[in-house]
Amino acid sequence: MPDKYFTYKSIDDLRADVAHLGVDISFDEKLDAVFQPVRIGPRTIGNAMGIHPMEGCDGTIDGKPGELTYRRWKRFGDGGAKLIWGEATAVVPEGLANSRQLLLNEANLPDFERLVKITRTAHCERYGTDSDLMIGLQLTHSGRWSYRAPMIAYHHPQADGVTYVDKAKGVCVDASYPLVTDDYLEQLEDAYVEAAKRAAKVGFDFVDIKQCHTYLLNELLGARTREGKYGGSFENRTRMIRNILSKIKSEVGSPFQAASRLNVYDGVPFELDPVSGAGRPIPFDTPYQYNFGVDVNDPLREDLTEPIALIAMMRGLGVHLVNVSVGSPYYNMHYGRPFEKKPFEGYETPEHPLLGVARHFAATEKIQRTFPDLAVVGTGYSWLQKYFISAGESNLRRKRVSIVAVGRGAIAYPDFAADVIAKGALNPSQVCIAISYCTNLMRSKNNELGQYPSGCVPRDDAYVPIYKDVLAKRKAEGKT
Ligand SMILES: Cc1cc2nc3c(=O)[nH]c(=O)nc-3n(C[C@H](O)[C@H](O)[C@H](O)COP(=O)(O)O)c2cc1C
Repeated sequence: MPDKYFTYKSIDDLRADVAHLGVDISFDEKLDAVFQPVRIGPRTIGNAMGIHPMEGCDGTIDGKPGELTYRRWKRFGDGGAKLIWGEATAVVPEGLANSRQLLLNEANLPDFERLVKITRTAHCERYGTDSDLMIGLQLTHSGRWSYRAPMIAYHHPQADGVTYVDKAKGVCVDASYPLVTDDYLEQLEDAYVEAAKRAAKVGFDFVDIKQCHTYLLNELLGARTREGKYGGSFENRTRMIRNILSKIKSEVGSPFQAASRLNVYDGVPFELDPVSGAGRPIPFDTPYQYNFGVDVNDPLREDLTEPIALIAMMRGLGVHLVNVSVGSPYYNMHYGRPFEKKPFEGYETPEHPLLGVARHFAATEKIQRTFPDLAVVGTGYSWLQKYFISAGESNLRRKRVSIVAVGRGAIAYPDFAADVIAKGALNPSQVCIAISYCTNLMRSKNNELGQYPSGCVPRDDAYVPIYKDVLAKRKAEGKT
């Protein structure tokens, strides 16, 4: 395992590694497609650059945006990307992923209104208008990763063993742990619809009904072993998303839109190999009965048949915008965010990060080619550092994607798009270097609020003292 993967001195060095690995990643240095407007249903955004949802875990304890939340969104508004995909926001308190996640309830509405306003104002001040900007909010229920208590859709032989009921005591979900009931899920559909109405009321352009990263709605998509109306057949597993989208369509209406960030491939759970330090799949049996978008005979491979059928169904319910993602940040983090250095308590990457980038691009291409008039947002760009924009340009020209977005790359460098517009290139000293500090902060819980805020430590001084505090506490606890 090399100490460092990203050692490229030039784009040609990177091209050589891509050729050596035999993956389909191409680069175009003459930028043009990234500046072109993109149609999203009845709206058009001003360029093809976007910002992925990036939770800052910096809300107040009652789920309102906090000072660092306002700061981040303002920087995104100022940044020049024309699609701002707002972060994970719970629709009910028991579905919160952490004690400082945002919560879209009635009491917090004025604060969300202020958040949208600050973001739009920052954009207007720099670019003169926000009529070609779309801002969305990701609506979520964290399911088995809910911090108050796991809420699981089905028992998963490998994932249950890493789903903590009491982390301090090392207690995980076992076979006796109850599943969320059908009645609960039915009521939850309405909570999503109420949240969508609230989002429309305070000025968001769209909501994302989140179906990625193994949170509840994503878990339901793979609930083959669940009994009752939300499990088993494809029709049952997609009942919840169908019902939510149908209700939003009839009760909220255009031009407000419902979109979805979805996993087209969940993969299988990985664990740390104590000998190599890298991740390895937790042993599993085939045919594989769990997760979504997996080949049941070889779940280390994708099978996009069901994700494509799901997107076709969502198209029929008025969805014009999807954001393609893969994997679980909890048990196979290298899939979703190819990284250079492992997060705390994680594992070193078991594959060259370029393979992860290529997996994202290939899956996204398949979706985009199947639905040429759907606005498809691509993921997996940040590890490419300053070259990500050339990869995005090439993917846009090749019609493998409609909008090129970054997550970690945006908290490191919120005005990346402004630089691309003004200078035709990214500043290498501002790009994300994928060394997992943001994830480390996100996983750090031992302060008085039960959660540290997350941000980019190497590129944003606001997070340096916060990180120092985390490291000091870990040292005192005997952790490295
Ligand atoms: C600190 C942190 C917060 C994140 N928050 C969210 C989130 O709220 N919603 C979501 O769908 N993905 C979230 N992600 C995943 C990113 O949006 C993105 O998919 C991932 O980082 C890979 O894209 P990148 O290579 O451009 O970073 C988060 C990732 C990190 C590291």
